[in-house]
Amino acid sequence: MTPVLMIRDERFIKSMAIVNFEHIRNHRNFGDQRVDPSSVIPYAKPMPFVGNMWEAFFQRSFAEIVEKIYNSNPDSKYVGFFEFDTPVLLIRDLDLIKSITVKNFHHFPNHRLASDPDLDPLFSKNIFSLRGEKWKEVRKILTWAFTPSKMRSMFVLLRYSSDVSVICMFGIDVNSLIDPKNPYYVNMREASFGKAQSLRLFAARNFPWLCQLLGITVFKQKVIEFFKDLVTGTIKIRDENGIVRSDMIQLMMETRGKLEPGKELTIDDMTAQAFIFFLGGFETVSTLLSFAAYEIGINDDIQKRLQDEIDQVLEDCNGEVTYEAINGMKYLEAVIFESLRMYPPFAATGRACAKPFELPPRVPGAKPYVVQANETVCIPIYGIHHDPQYYPEPKKFNPDRFYDNPIEVAKFHSFLSFGLGPRMCIGYRFALLETKVLLFHIFAKCDLAPCSKSSIPLKLNRKGFSMTLENGFWLKVQPRTAKSAGSEKIAIPGTTMLIETIPDKHPDD
Ligand code: HEM
Repeated sequence: MTPVLMIRDERFIKSMAIVNFEHIRNHRNFGDQRVDPSSVIPYAKPMPFVGNMWEAFFQRSFAEIVEKIYNSNPDSKYVGFFEFDTPVLLIRDLDLIKSITVKNFHHFPNHRLASDPDLDPLFSKNIFSLRGEKWKEVRKILTWAFTPSKMRSMFVLLRYSSDVSVICMFGIDVNSLIDPKNPYYVNMREASFGKAQSLRLFAARNFPWLCQLLGITVFKQKVIEFFKDLVTGTIKIRDENGIVRSDMIQLMMETRGKLEPGKELTIDDMTAQAFIFFLGGFETVSTLLSFAAYEIGINDDIQKRLQDEIDQVLEDCNGEVTYEAINGMKYLEAVIFESLRMYPPFAATGRACAKPFELPPRVPGAKPYVVQANETVCIPIYGIHHDPQYYPEPKKFNPDRFYDNPIEVAKFHSFLSFGLGPRMCIGYRFALLETKVLLFHIFAKCDLAPCSKSSIPLKLNRKGFSMTLENGFWLKVQPRTAKSAGSEKIAIPGTTMLIETIPDKHPDD
């Protein structure tokens, strides 16, 4: 049996926090009070080892931690916090966020990830983690997968989130509702960010040396093997049978022999891209869909207005909705933007500094601060989205704030769900289209309503890092009354059922 020391003394725990910060101060600091008070950057007090992340295990969702740190110093353009033992600068000022992500992109060209490419190819070689020239090369190739004309051709392929990814990325047709044990869905659930998966990600980011030492990878070996076999097998079958499909595997296959020596995409490279597209499309879109459907389901007036818009489109299109018609639906779009604002699937994103960059003084009279290479900045998406100066009554689900001109709001850079600048989400058009199509079909045919298990007001899950609800998404689904029956809704007896869009538990937990 292993002896364990349980520390209950509060003073001891606090002194450990100070030791921890003092230790970090030696190699990276937020300013030194003793030398020059105007150089000090306020920071959220960390706990030993876990920094400011410990609350995510017991008390607060990751999104709420981001919001708390964001709100801790409202007058400062930036504040510090510790992701485990790594000091991170959280940028509060919108102009500065824009400056870092767009104008001075060359100082901050990369996401902040580190892991051993040999140990962890799925993680380190995907476009999200790639750096420098290799990233540019791959981004150029993959951007073609998301042009408006590609979107139009994918419109006919769209179904449910994970299945959409399988068919659009790999050209394989599956139905996870009928067959929830199919290997694509099962492996995707394994790879999605439950508690254990998130911990592995944080470990790779903050303690790469430890992961290397212990052979810990972000994704499990069997998931890595599954995707590698899938991509290798798909390429082999297409090569042998001359099959050409309109998907991202094809795009990557077509680069073979066309890139300069040394820049060719290997099987590991292709697998990593296929995988990140699959993961990107699976978890984020299902989060968006779940929150959007939930808010519509518990707000009768919003549901009615959305269904009126859907009915009008169906009437105008003779019952067969088109790509143009769905993209012209202003209220549907406003509902989706408002869901993304209130519940951004990524509560924060970040950048790693590549060359030193001077930030303006955090408050008038303070010293400017120079971010050094390899230091990290955090863009607090959830904090900005819940700041009343940008979104009055931020805790209210109000699609009207996006109704008249969502693009204007996005331009103002206060809408950050897809990130900003050259490193912003490559799949955002696809995600929006996919969500529009699904919500359209659900609310054309069904009414959603609260049931005894629904939590109102909704509570974010406090244990873990992903954006989800504490008790899962429970709603009552019933067929819609035929329009000819007038405005009164009649549920057909025996057909009312309960659905749970996201299972409560991740397979790891
Ligand atoms: C609601 C759905 C989605 C949300 C909210 C979302 C959000 C984001 C965010 C915040 C980033 C980081 C941006 C930054 O750092 O500035 C990102 C990057 C990325 N997303 Fe998405 N995403 C979604 C759907 C998708 C889909 C469907 C795909 C692919 C099919 C995808 C693929 C990617 C990739 C590959 C990157 C990395 C881009 C790069 O580093 O060059 N995402 N996404």
